[in-house]
Amino acid sequence: EQIEKGGYEHFMLKEIHEQPKAIRDTYRGRLLRNEAIIKMAGVEDNMKKFLNANRFIIVACGTSWHAGLVAEYIFEDLARIPVEVEYASEFRYRNPVITENDVVIAISQSGETADTLAAIKLAKSKGAFVFGVCNVVGSSIARETNAGAYTHAGPEIGVASTKAFTTQITVLTLMALRLARAKGTISSSDFRKYLLELEMIPNKVEKSLESDAHIKLISDIYKDSNNCLYLGRGFNFPVALEGALKLKEISYIHAEGYPAAEMKHGPIALIDENMPIIVIATKKGHYEKVVSNIQEIKSRKGKIIGIVTEGDQQVKALADHVIEVPETLEFLTPLLTTIPLQLLSYHMAVLLNKNVDQPRNLAKSVTVE
Ligand code: G6P
Repeated sequence: EQIEKGGYEHFMLKEIHEQPKAIRDTYRGRLLRNEAIIKMAGVEDNMKKFLNANRFIIVACGTSWHAGLVAEYIFEDLARIPVEVEYASEFRYRNPVITENDVVIAISQSGETADTLAAIKLAKSKGAFVFGVCNVVGSSIARETNAGAYTHAGPEIGVASTKAFTTQITVLTLMALRLARAKGTISSSDFRKYLLELEMIPNKVEKSLESDAHIKLISDIYKDSNNCLYLGRGFNFPVALEGALKLKEISYIHAEGYPAAEMKHGPIALIDENMPIIVIATKKGHYEKVVSNIQEIKSRKGKIIGIVTEGDQQVKALADHVIEVPETLEFLTPLLTTIPLQLLSYHMAVLLNKNVDQPRNLAKSVTVE
């Protein structure tokens, strides 16, 4: 097992550090920048279905559901396709309205999640076209779907999902860009610019990983907290949900993710000097509005950990701590802002002596209801 961990103390840490490679492996052979094309067989072969779809319905569970939420923002923004994101467990029992003109996208690392599999069968029985985004080749979901695209994250052993999440976002971003080009909702010059930037993401993830020691120090300060709040807006709202989930899963600290602007409708009542609040405040995407949320937190004495763009001064002046990520296009920021949140939960759990790779009560893949 020590050999399999490749010198890392835990699988989770190894998998966090594997993300630059996993993302590169996922776009390799698909993102052809010199030719300015994206090649994905499962999308190409079914282009008509995608382009004629009334809407996309994404079904998934857990972390994969969060990747679906990020994809909703990206598909709508770039390709102007209406998207709904559903918990597979709710969808399958809700008598949902599904037609032959719907495209259902099922996201699953393991490809074995019982609820997601059942949701796929239901959608197929109503005549929808079902596309799978799985990591495990030949898994039940990969076989049950009409077509699909694999993530190339490699085996993920840690129960808390890390590289599966960022590679799912990578695949879904490639799909959104391909469809946006086919629909003409983005120009060819923007398309080229986006490909170039996506290609640079693995290096920027690498850079984000360099904050590891700094994040460990912050984790030590807050490890005994009873609650944590995660806030983000737009593309980074699902990242806030995912950050909170990671912390709950492995450290057993109660955490909630919220859209930053919703704070005033409830969570603000929880804020006092004992409450750490992780705020994703990268330079684009309503930055000024997030800064005013930070001011509100500060006036209530909450402890602020800001996830900011390199060189940021404004949040730095207000926050108790900042963790920097490199600058990128707004729709690609989740691939970077996720990294410090993974490391934060990892270090808190390790400092609390928790079983990081196999947290209590959780399974890597939930094959029963
Ligand atoms: C379990 C795992 C999570 C995972 C979820 C969905 O709860 O512990 O890490 O996100 O299942 O799994 P899937 O394999 O369908 O992505």
